[in-house]
Amino acid sequence: MKELDAALEAAVSAGNMIKSRVGKTQNIRFKGAINIVTDTDVKAEKLIVKTLKKAFPQYGILAEERYAKDKGGDRWIIDPLDGTTNFAHGFPFFAVSIALEKAGEVIAGVVYDPMHQELFTAVKGKGAYLNKKKIRVSKVKKLSKAFLATGFSYDFKRKKDNNIDNFSNFLMAGMAVRRAGAAAIDLCYVACGRFDGFWEMDLQPWDTAAAALIIKEAGGTLSLFDGSPFSNYKKNILACNGLIHKQMQKILKRK
Ligand code: IPD
Ligand code: CA
Ligand code: CA
Repeated sequence: MKELDAALEAAVSAGNMIKSRVGKTQNIRFKGAINIVTDTDVKAEKLIVKTLKKAFPQYGILAEERYAKDKGGDRWIIDPLDGTTNFAHGFPFFAVSIALEKAGEVIAGVVYDPMHQELFTAVKGKGAYLNKKKIRVSKVKKLSKAFLATGFSYDFKRKKDNNIDNFSNFLMAGMAVRRAGAAAIDLCYVACGRFDGFWEMDLQPWDTAAAALIIKEAGGTLSLFDGSPFSNYKKNILACNGLIHKQMQKILKRK
């Protein structure tokens, strides 16, 4: 698929540019109390948008930094740097995420982790791949044996419903919980069976669009916390191997 090839090229070149700037002084701006953006985020977004616009001028752009207000239509959904806080601290867990949404549905997605040179890809109906090898979700059946991941939104300190209750409940119910700081990678790790389940609140479409397709194509299950259908435009996500879905939902209901 030509679109996937273009997304792949854009993600890899932006990812490698980001990698080359690790450990260098960053120009940091605060979007909120703990929400930072670096000049590298913006540079990566410009590079990706330029590549994709050149190849496919007909598609719109919804991207985190300078194109966050696109109104719809067929478009690319881009997080130029997922895991900015990690990147800015030299913590090697961040990625570029690019999805193509057509007629309201994501049909192709790419997540590239440049530090580990891992490229996750999916095209609707064609399976999910990590560096060209087919991937599947895990087979863990019991929540008590599940390796889980989550994240916290930048405004969690100001919120009552801030995910800390879920975090402690899953710590007690699961095998272990990680909060590594890049939602797109967390989701891809569910797709390839490294994590058994993931949940988070208040994510944005650019965090989930590519990786949600990758999970679906890897045989995983996605929903909102209450079990209703997942959407990139709704604000919570429960993603897992399918086998522990009901058990995770039960924990998320326990308030
Ligand atoms: C953030 C990361 C983080 C998640 C936050 C996101 P950013 O994205 O994915 O893991 O917990 O909710 O906003 O700001 O690094 O692109
Ligand atoms: Ca993000
Ligand atoms: Ca970002």
